[in-house]
Amino acid sequence: MPVAVTLTHAAVLPDTLPDDVVVAVAVRSGHLTEDAPGVDVDLAKLGGFEGKTGQLHVAATDAGARLLVGVGGEPDPTAYRRIGAAVARKAGSHEALVVDLLASFEGAERVAAAEALATGLVLGTYRFGAYKPAPEGTTLGAITLLGKGGARVAAAVERGVAIATAMVLVRDLVNTPGGDLTPKAFAAEATKVATGAGLEIEVLDKAAIRKAKLGGLLGVNRGSAQEPRFVKVTHRPEGRAKGKVALVGKGVTFDAGGLSIKTATGMEWMKTDMAGAATVLGAMSLVPTVAPKLEVTAYLPLTDNMLGPDATRVGDVLTARNGKTIEVLNTDAEGRLILADALCLAVEDEPDAIIDLATLTGAVIVALGERTAGAMTNHDGLRERVLDAADAAGEAMWPLPLPDHLRKGLDSEVADLRNIGAGPYGGALTAALFLREFVGDVPWVHLDIAGPADTTSAWDENTRGGTGFAVRTLVNLLATWTKLPPA
Ligand code: BES
Ligand code: MN
Ligand code: ZN
Repeated sequence: MPVAVTLTHAAVLPDTLPDDVVVAVAVRSGHLTEDAPGVDVDLAKLGGFEGKTGQLHVAATDAGARLLVGVGGEPDPTAYRRIGAAVARKAGSHEALVVDLLASFEGAERVAAAEALATGLVLGTYRFGAYKPAPEGTTLGAITLLGKGGARVAAAVERGVAIATAMVLVRDLVNTPGGDLTPKAFAAEATKVATGAGLEIEVLDKAAIRKAKLGGLLGVNRGSAQEPRFVKVTHRPEGRAKGKVALVGKGVTFDAGGLSIKTATGMEWMKTDMAGAATVLGAMSLVPTVAPKLEVTAYLPLTDNMLGPDATRVGDVLTARNGKTIEVLNTDAEGRLILADALCLAVEDEPDAIIDLATLTGAVIVALGERTAGAMTNHDGLRERVLDAADAAGEAMWPLPLPDHLRKGLDSEVADLRNIGAGPYGGALTAALFLREFVGDVPWVHLDIAGPADTTSAWDENTRGGTGFAVRTLVNLLATWTKLPPA
């Protein structure tokens, strides 16, 4: 579904405003009247409104209703995504919204705030509407974002909208039920996105996947009535590329656990198990504009994890693309099996770096909570870059170790590797140690996004369901890419 609102930038307040418009003005805490000039508000009627960051209050003025928006004492651009989302939500039952919130910034801060605000405003209008019409009275169709600063601010607004649009794509994919977003349907959507963005795309069907010897993907797919797909999307720059980056995303369109079946509640959110692949696709859609000179390829293995009559048995041995054999002792540890093949294909293309994103383990949520991704690596410098990009994006990621002693737990009596570790602890690390076996010496970062990829309730600019987490990190990382120093 496309974004439901149009957002445009204007330098000053238009002379004529539509009838049903909300005008949002900034109020700094401690500056109540000065900061909302022309807004003659009755201080006694402000209830608890003090101008704190994100606080909202509708005030009647001679010029019409004004939405007072608290921006705190020292306005901070990083808060403007959630401020934007709150403002857009508040204005949802009006036809138009004019947002006048950038005046307190200058220069680079204004540019940063404009981008964050634009993203937040669009995300604040997001709802997953594929199966249910919007509630009566949801009318907001046009947002005008005011801000002096000329072309730089206008470009920032455009970038903010583009980022939100990519995040909306990710959210829609993550929120679509597994029975509808089959591997085939995901591949069709990827084809649409790639074609629209001017990217190359290659889709392997089951026969081609067999031919490519993707034994992990085939093994996970074995219990399913739905065919797997493997999608490869590439941005190839004109002329010499600045570098070459591979993005790998886990695309399990529904994870029942296979024969090692999940519990009923453990399965409730498992339509979201393709968030890694969706995030990579969302980021790819932006590559031609944010990193035109970089070669970037996405590798997306797609299947569900079901338990049909010929499902992979516990104890079965699969052979991955690179010939390594894997004893499957828990069919619910399926993400690593399909990622193994995808990582092999990425390595064969000799990239400068590989980033993989996966809703890989419940254990990472135990370790870091629901809002922080775990970052594991074989190259500290690359991870520093990813974490810096995440910081700048306002997305929470944290380093986790790859302890040697846990690696032994992956040794198998009958195959090269077991797909689960030996003990109950450190599951996120064991999973990453397994993936490391397939990246050779290519610099690699694994992002376990099982926590932040979705949310059970709305917070900041997020709505219940898919969040679009890590799109902004990837954009920052790719947009600023330079050759990596040796490990
Ligand atoms: N998709 C799950 C991980 C997951 C769990 C994501 C909860 C989001 C919320 C993954 O395929 C899985 O089932 N992992 C197992 C691994 C275990 C069997 C070694 C897990 O975490 O329990
Ligand atoms: Mn699983
Ligand atoms: Zn899974």
